[in-house]
Amino acid sequence: MQHLLKMSDVTELEIYNILKSAKELQSTTIPFNTQGFIANLFFEPSTRTKLSFEVAEKKLGYETIDFTLESSSVQKGESLYDTVRTIESLGASAVVIRHPEDNYFEALKTNIQIPIINGGDGKGEHPTQCLLDLYTIYEEFGTFTGLKVVIAGDIRHSRVARSNALTLQRLGANVAFSGPSEWQDNNLQFPYVSMGEAVSTCDVLMLLRIQNERHDAELGGSDYLTQYGLTVEREKKMKEKSIIMHPAPVNRGVEIADELVECSRSRIFQQMKNGVFIRMAVIHMLLHKGGVSNETTTKKRSLI
Ligand code: CP
Repeated sequence: MQHLLKMSDVTELEIYNILKSAKELQSTTIPFNTQGFIANLFFEPSTRTKLSFEVAEKKLGYETIDFTLESSSVQKGESLYDTVRTIESLGASAVVIRHPEDNYFEALKTNIQIPIINGGDGKGEHPTQCLLDLYTIYEEFGTFTGLKVVIAGDIRHSRVARSNALTLQRLGANVAFSGPSEWQDNNLQFPYVSMGEAVSTCDVLMLLRIQNERHDAELGGSDYLTQYGLTVEREKKMKEKSIIMHPAPVNRGVEIADELVECSRSRIFQQMKNGVFIRMAVIHMLLHKGGVSNETTTKKRSLI
């Protein structure tokens, strides 16, 4: 694999290898011989993805190239291709990109030789979020086969819904959606269930953030919580071992009642922890295990 752009490009074997590698990287100190650079290009706001890539890169011994949209030559009209080509010319080993345009990477992948890691493309995909969600589910249940996963909320505008639903189905889970009819996505062929049915039947309830930045009018609020969200009353109807996930940022009191965000079934902050190890595993796979490597020195660094 040269790039990580869409989950459909990743084979089942590669998915399991990434999960295994993340587990190893979580508990192993490995000296890496590298003084490479990785650039993080975020054209949309991000806390978790950007910072956990930075932590992952530093733990692997890479320097990070900080790119600030506001002070970059994008403001003078430089294209995404020329920006990434420039970063490659400066000697970066890989580039992580988040961009508001669906499939932005199509214009890059032919000529850019260094690995491109998709940190989220518009309403398209969010492959490292998907992988960290898979890791979190696998840690909990040890399998995907036969698990009932309900993905609930703003399906149509969510790149997380698309990446997760299709991949979890491929791995043997039974996936259903739940949410308002105006946010259903007819391009994704999954059954829709009510939140009442979701909570009483699912093993994993994956809540989605309302993507107000992709809507014409701002929606949500306490009405949304009562109709479509996870209220305290609904949580009580969940099966004993079932878990709550959310890619975050969370709109507390909208997708989920405030007091449930850190309840015992919630894996929301565990997902964030897992994100570091998954991103380390992805970088390691692309740059060290059969991928290209632009390492130039033998300076040793240790994983902490
Ligand atoms: N889950 C996620 O992608 O969060 P950020 O937008 O903060 O990166």
